[in-house]
Amino acid sequence: MKNQEIISSLGQTRDSFYLYDQRAILDRIQTLREDFPGVSFLYSIKCNPHPQVLKTIFGAGFGADAASLGEVELASALGLSGQSIQFSAPGKSDAALEGAWDKAVITADSLNEVRRLADLARRRGTPVKIGLRVNPSFGFDGPDGLPSKFGMDEDQLLAAVPWLRQEPHLQIVGLHIHLKSQERRSEVLLAYYKNCLSVALELQAALGCELAFINLGSGIGIPYGPEDAPLDTKALGQGLARLWRKGQRLFPKATLYLETGRFLTGPSGVYVTKVLDKKVSRGKTFLILQNTLNGFLRPSVARLIESYAGEGDLIGTEPLFTQRDAFRFLPIPCREETEVVTLAGNLCTGADVMARDCHLPRMEPGDLVVVTNAGSYGAVLSPMQFSSQVPPQELFLTAEGQILE
Ligand SMILES: Cc1ncc(COP(=O)(O)O)c(C=O)c1O
Repeated sequence: MKNQEIISSLGQTRDSFYLYDQRAILDRIQTLREDFPGVSFLYSIKCNPHPQVLKTIFGAGFGADAASLGEVELASALGLSGQSIQFSAPGKSDAALEGAWDKAVITADSLNEVRRLADLARRRGTPVKIGLRVNPSFGFDGPDGLPSKFGMDEDQLLAAVPWLRQEPHLQIVGLHIHLKSQERRSEVLLAYYKNCLSVALELQAALGCELAFINLGSGIGIPYGPEDAPLDTKALGQGLARLWRKGQRLFPKATLYLETGRFLTGPSGVYVTKVLDKKVSRGKTFLILQNTLNGFLRPSVARLIESYAGEGDLIGTEPLFTQRDAFRFLPIPCREETEVVTLAGNLCTGADVMARDCHLPRMEPGDLVVVTNAGSYGAVLSPMQFSSQVPPQELFLTAEGQILE
């Protein structure tokens, strides 16, 4: 196991913690840089806003995909220019629009928000350059667009173009489309990118402007389960480069962006929790761990889904739930003898079960369980105040081997 000695040593004085590995993040940045020539990247802060993670990723030249004023401010405080921060989210308050005004490119999520931005620009006496989030008339992997709380339906946007063109305080400079996270089929992503560029071309022509950016959103998936093949980023990057060679003639002023969160941080972080107790009840062996549902929510949510959702398709549950077998549980020490155990937490709810009836190396109180794929949507999604437990620490392992708290 990677970093096993470091984890063992950290576990001597802690009952639960996250460990983010800078070297792993840097390696994944390098992969994207090599595999996607001509593409600029934004980091989706929402998946892991740990200060050292942000410093690492922004320090490597990524811009920011910010989903709140708080995230705009995090990126801005780390020195990112307004041009490098894209603020795109549904339902922005007046305070959020005003606060982000000089710190980010604001991407409007509805026609109502476009109107509010135009009013605000009028009151401030300066025109504003904005992006538009589009809900296209195609689906992610099918021909038809779906109703969505995100963005503006393409046909509604086209119908609003005469007004947008006349509005003196508005300048439309870019488009943002994001329909789905966690896709590992490069050909599906490529077809989606192609469709997005067609929409961009249509809107650019209708708006009578030259777009400064086209943001194709995320979608870049990672393997979670043991059977999952990784996304072929090389093939995807080559395909996108081919599309963009043509695109550059059609969008001569545009920067092409992809957003990503989990690709950089998901596999670069682990969650570690200590076995506090072991008991047998009516023939079942339970290991009681520190901070399960409240420390790292996603494995427990997967078990809940397993209990209640049956085998049906689970659409729209990201990032809370990806799939049933998304995490591995690696004990330290790793004994040869195995046993069937349930990994439960120390909360007063039966819902905090990370793994049920699974074969694992035998564990005893004081041992550690390392949970994989915990670097994204881990600490941020977990209800750490529940039950007033001491929350897990978030630790950062620098490329030089130093631990930062
Ligand atoms: C608009 C948008 N962009 C980017 C992301 C990041 O997705 P991922 O972490 O899968 O890269 C999300 C995730 O919810 C999103 O909603």
